[in-house]
Amino acid sequence: MGKTILGVSAFYHDSAAAIIRDGEIIAAAQEERFSRRKHDARFPARAINYCLEQAFIDPAELDAAVFYDNPLLTFDRVMKNFVTVAPNGREQWAKAAGSFFGVKIAVRDYLKRALGANTKVLFSDHHMAHAAAAFYPSPFTEAAILTVDGVGEWATMSLGHGRDNQIELLKEIRYPHSLGLLYSAMTFFSGFKVNSGEYKLMGLAPYGQPVFADRIREELIDIKDDGSFRLNTKYFGFLDGDQMTNQAFDDLFGGPPRRPESQITRREMDLAASIQLVLEEVMLKLAHQAKRVTGAPNLVLAGGVALNCVANGKIARENIFEQIWIQPAAGDAGNALGAALLAHHQYFDQPRRLRSAGQDAQLGSYLGPAFSSAEVRAFLDRHDYPYTRVAEAGERARTVARAVADGKVVGYMVGRMEFGPRALGARSILGDPRRAETQSIMNLKIKHRESFRPFAPAVIAERAGDYFALDQESPYMLLVAPVRDERRMPANGNGAAKDENLLNVINQARSDIPAVTHVDYSARVQTVAPNDKPDFYEVLKEFEAITGCPLMVNTSFNVRGEPIVCGPPDAYRCFMRTEIDLLVMEDCVLWNDAQPEFVDAQNWKAEYDLD
Ligand SMILES: [Fe+2]
Repeated sequence: MGKTILGVSAFYHDSAAAIIRDGEIIAAAQEERFSRRKHDARFPARAINYCLEQAFIDPAELDAAVFYDNPLLTFDRVMKNFVTVAPNGREQWAKAAGSFFGVKIAVRDYLKRALGANTKVLFSDHHMAHAAAAFYPSPFTEAAILTVDGVGEWATMSLGHGRDNQIELLKEIRYPHSLGLLYSAMTFFSGFKVNSGEYKLMGLAPYGQPVFADRIREELIDIKDDGSFRLNTKYFGFLDGDQMTNQAFDDLFGGPPRRPESQITRREMDLAASIQLVLEEVMLKLAHQAKRVTGAPNLVLAGGVALNCVANGKIARENIFEQIWIQPAAGDAGNALGAALLAHHQYFDQPRRLRSAGQDAQLGSYLGPAFSSAEVRAFLDRHDYPYTRVAEAGERARTVARAVADGKVVGYMVGRMEFGPRALGARSILGDPRRAETQSIMNLKIKHRESFRPFAPAVIAERAGDYFALDQESPYMLLVAPVRDERRMPANGNGAAKDENLLNVINQARSDIPAVTHVDYSARVQTVAPNDKPDFYEVLKEFEAITGCPLMVNTSFNVRGEPIVCGPPDAYRCFMRTEIDLLVMEDCVLWNDAQPEFVDAQNWKAEYDLD
C-alpha cells in the first residue's frame, strides 16, 4: 500500500489538516469549520481527527506527519528582527518568544503527543509548502511556480520551477519586503481586518480611482523590472509595533487610518484602487519573470496573495502562459496539503501520477466532510424540524431552481465541504442573478455584511463564454473576468462612480445579470462542468431550463464573521438566523416559514467577531 501522510498547518492563522495516500488527496479541512471559530489558529485536533477517519487509519499507521513550517527558521526571523529594532520591539518580542518557545520549538513532541503515536514528524519550509500546494495538484507536468504571501519564515515571495515530482525554488524575496504585508497594511489603514479584510479592499477597488498609485510607487515600494521589490520600512509599524502602519504612513495619505465600521470615504476607495493597481503591476512583472527564468509553458500560484482573483484574471488575460492554475486553499491552510504532498514526492521520492489530460488532482476541492441523508434526518427528527424529502437529485434540482427563479434565497448543503475560503456549491447560498435587488437583499438580510461587496456567479461551464470574457475554466472561483459587452447596460457615469454613497452606486443595474456584475463590469466567476459537481450542475441546468439564464449567485453559506457551515446543526442555525427561504440538506428540503420559532441560545450577532 502507498504511503499515508498527514499534513498539519497550525499556530499562525487558519489551522488545517490534510491527508494523502499514495499521492492521492483523501481529505483536507480547516479547523475553523469544526470549532466554529473563524481563522482558528489552534492545533487542528478536530480537522486531524476528521482526516484520520476519512482515511480509515489510526495515527500509528501514518507513514509521516508533516508540519508546514520550519519553526527554527521562523524563530530566526523573529530573533533577527528583534535585534534590528530593539528596544522598540521588546514587547512584540516577548509575545513572539512566548509562543515560539512554548509551542513551535516543541512542535515535534507536541504533534506526537497529540497523535498519541510515535509518528515520524517532518518539517517543510513555508514557501516550499505553498509551492507544493500549487504545483502537485495542478494538471501540469511542468510549470513555473509563484508563491506570494505576507510572510512565512523569511521569504515573502518565491519563484520556482516544477517538473514531474521535483520542485526547485530559484529566487525569493525576504521579509520585511513583502507584497502581502503591503496589501495588509493598506487593508488595516482602510479600516478592515488584516488577514481577512484583504478581500474587502479588493472589492472596494473598482469604486475608486488609482490617484495614490504614484505615491505608493514613489514612497512605499520600489519595484524593479523583474518584479522584485523593496518596501520603505520607515512607513510601516509591523517591524517595531503592533500596528501595520505608523505616523509617517498617516502623513502620506492625509490623516489617520479609517476607524473600522465607520463610513467608507472616497479616500479608502481611491486607496483600494491604487494598491490594487500596484499589486497587479508587481504580479504581472513577476509572472513575466517566472516565464523568463523557467521557460515553462504554464504557471501555478499559491500564497495568500494568490487569492487576489482580480490580479489572477489579469495574469490569465495577459497570455504569458498557456494556462494558469491556482491552489484554491492558497493561504496557509493549504500548506497542510502542500506539506503532505511535498513529503510524498520529495522526502519519499514518489513519482507523480497525472490524471487524464487537463484534469487536476484537487478533486474540485470537495475534500471536507459530507453528511449522509440518514445523518441529516436524524438531526431534523431529533429536533422535530419539519421537512420533506425529494425522491431523486432531479427533483431537488428542480425545487432549488424554481425557488431561485421565484426570487427566493436557498441554502444549499450537498456533498463534501469545500477546502479553501470559497464555497463552490457544497456549502452555498444561491440566488437569482437577474434581479438587481438580490445583491442588497443577500448582503443585508442574509450575510449581514457591507453592501458594497459583490457576489459571484456560478455558471454552466459551456455557457460561460456567453456571459464573460474568459477563455479558460475557473472551477475554483479564483479568476475575475469582464462581463461581455453585449450584456452591459450603461449605468450613470462609468464603473468608477463619483458618488460618495456606495449604496446609490451599487443599486444601479449594470447588465442583464446585475447581482453579479461589479461596478467595473467584472465578475468573479466559478465555472461548473458536469463532472465538477454533478448535483450542482443539474441545479444550474434546471435554472437555465426555467429562465434561459445559465448562472446563479453563489455565495458562501455563513453570516458575516462566521466560518462557513460544516454540518446540519450549523446549516440549520444559519438558515433560521437569516432570511434564507429554503434550506436543502442532501435530500431534505426545509421551508423557513414552516419552521417552529427558533429560540436562539446566543446573541449571535455578538457571537462572531466582525471580520
Ligand atoms: Fe503563507
